[in-house]
Amino acid sequence: MSKVFAHRGFSGQYPENTLLAFRKAMEAECDGIELDVHLAKDGSLVIMHDEKLDRTTDGTGLLCEYTLDELRRFNAAAVMPGKFPFEPIPTLEEYFDLVKDTSVITNIELKNSVIWYEGMEKKVIEMVRAFHLEDRVIFSSFNHESIVLCKRLAPEIRCGFLYDCWLVHSGKYAKTNGVEYLHPSLNSLNDAVIDEITRDGIGLNVWTINEEPAMRYLTQKQVNGIITNYPDVCRSVLRSLS
Ligand code: G3P
Ligand code: MG
Repeated sequence: MSKVFAHRGFSGQYPENTLLAFRKAMEAECDGIELDVHLAKDGSLVIMHDEKLDRTTDGTGLLCEYTLDELRRFNAAAVMPGKFPFEPIPTLEEYFDLVKDTSVITNIELKNSVIWYEGMEKKVIEMVRAFHLEDRVIFSSFNHESIVLCKRLAPEIRCGFLYDCWLVHSGKYAKTNGVEYLHPSLNSLNDAVIDEITRDGIGLNVWTINEEPAMRYLTQKQVNGIITNYPDVCRSVLRSLS
């Protein structure tokens, strides 16, 4: 059975990439959580989607130009104005504290295709190892060089290449680079492509799947993971098919 991954937590109903959204995703019985990580000015690993604070918080400018102490003042619930009380921008360490004693799988998306943060791969790997979560983490990035570096630094941690285009022989590309998963958008797939990737022994984690017919289709194609803003809906679709 495919696994339900909550995209940026339960971001369909709660402020994305906050501890609230991660807690609610677990309450909705997700199997996994996808989140996005950046490096702050003082080297802290911080969870947010954009390089800039402007869309999701009440701050402005580049996240990497602030220290963690400075970032703590901003409200990540501002992405849904007036709906929720203050939610701080979380760190990866706080997130791991939340999930370490659960069975939740974490897909850490390294957000380093616009700004390739110096040393971020090493820091993330150290944090995963400190929490002994090597078996329950998947790294992904649109920056495939960064993923290859992660694989070199931590061969024991599973990785996936993110993309949003029609790659040719993508299963073989993943295999050649020692990567276990592909993370395509749904727009980059059809039956033949899914079948070829599956034959190549590469797992698929597909995003961002918010409509029930696509959830049903991907479950029937037996993909590894369905990354959705609505883990509650996806869970009930999977239940109806089991
Ligand atoms: O990891 C899947 C998906 O999150 C990739 O796109 O922009 O939502 O981080 P984005
Ligand atoms: Mg992401």
